Amino acid sequence: MSRSVIPEQLKSPKIQVPPHPQWPILTGAELHAAKTRIKKLLTSRDAVLVAHYYTDPDLQELAEESGGCVADSLEMARFGSVQKAKTLVVCGVRFMGETAKILNPEKRVLMPDLNATCSLDEGCPADEFAHFCDQHPDHTVVVYANTSAEVKARSDWVVTSGIALPIVTYLAGKGEKVLWAPDKHLGSYVQKLTGVDMLLWQGSCVVHEEFKAVALERIRKLHPDAAVLVHPESPEAVIGQADVVGSTTALIQAVQNMENKTFIVATDGGIFHKMKQLAPDKLLIEAPTAGEGATCQSCAHCPWMGMNALQNLEQVLLNGENEIIIDPEIREKAVLPIQRMLDFASNHQRDKKNNRAT
Ligand code: 13P
Ligand code: SF4
Repeated sequence: MSRSVIPEQLKSPKIQVPPHPQWPILTGAELHAAKTRIKKLLTSRDAVLVAHYYTDPDLQELAEESGGCVADSLEMARFGSVQKAKTLVVCGVRFMGETAKILNPEKRVLMPDLNATCSLDEGCPADEFAHFCDQHPDHTVVVYANTSAEVKARSDWVVTSGIALPIVTYLAGKGEKVLWAPDKHLGSYVQKLTGVDMLLWQGSCVVHEEFKAVALERIRKLHPDAAVLVHPESPEAVIGQADVVGSTTALIQAVQNMENKTFIVATDGGIFHKMKQLAPDKLLIEAPTAGEGATCQSCAHCPWMGMNALQNLEQVLLNGENEIIIDPEIREKAVLPIQRMLDFASNHQRDKKNNRAT
């Protein structure tokens, strides 16, 4: 029989959440001038921007206008690997920069702020994780991309929210038992759908952890025709109310493709920029982080994603600081499970296309 086990000793450390950074607001002319200067720097430094959907809208637009990308973490990893540019500037959080460097050791990878971490990464220290793995040698180790290079180096598979379910379904087909880290909510969601025998690390995302199920029920009553879109890092009772559960890309596609006029969205507010761009006629409502039981630390905005701005992006391009460096031994081990994920994802994508065509 399948089971999901929560080992007693796995108490994720208390994470220090910084306040959301306040960047000076640029006037229209200042914004235009800053973007023009950065575009020139990108060209002169042979650099390309790789940004996440949760970053500032100005950064997202600049990334696209300058030939870079705005994407989810799976596509960010893939996009970085197929670029000719010698430098990748990753606007997101640290694990995204590390993944880019692991996949592209010959490239220089810069980030606007190297302190831009992630509560999932912070909540899974490599030494404690290695000890957990040592205790369960009969389990296949699957780690979420939101982890350090050292944790990835100890894994068999890396997954993102966009490919976790197909990969664990594949492992289930082979009768494997899974040791999963660090996100307990994504882990139990995947466990529930696949029925796999899973050991779960007890990490969580401080942003998605704040969505409130009871307050969401109330908002749904006010908007009975709205579709509820939920990122799987959210608590089970919030996921349980979703019409669509998926990666940031999947949630954006849902707004574009579903016929509903109204959407209640449970993920970081940065995603609304792309949703509004692609579906300007849809009404988008933030899922509640306040209400019953509210202790909001983030109010649906990742403080670490907020550390990326035009100002510090320009600085790193000017001075070449904030380079991601990975120990070559760690890199050699970590690249295998990441590449395994990318290969699996491209085969999966191809199979899905073929199935649609037949
Ligand atoms: P996605 O891969 O769905 O973009 O998620 C990354 C993330 O950190 C969500 O909090
Ligand atoms: Fe990490 Fe959560 Fe921020 Fe995503 S939103 S980077 S999971 S802290």
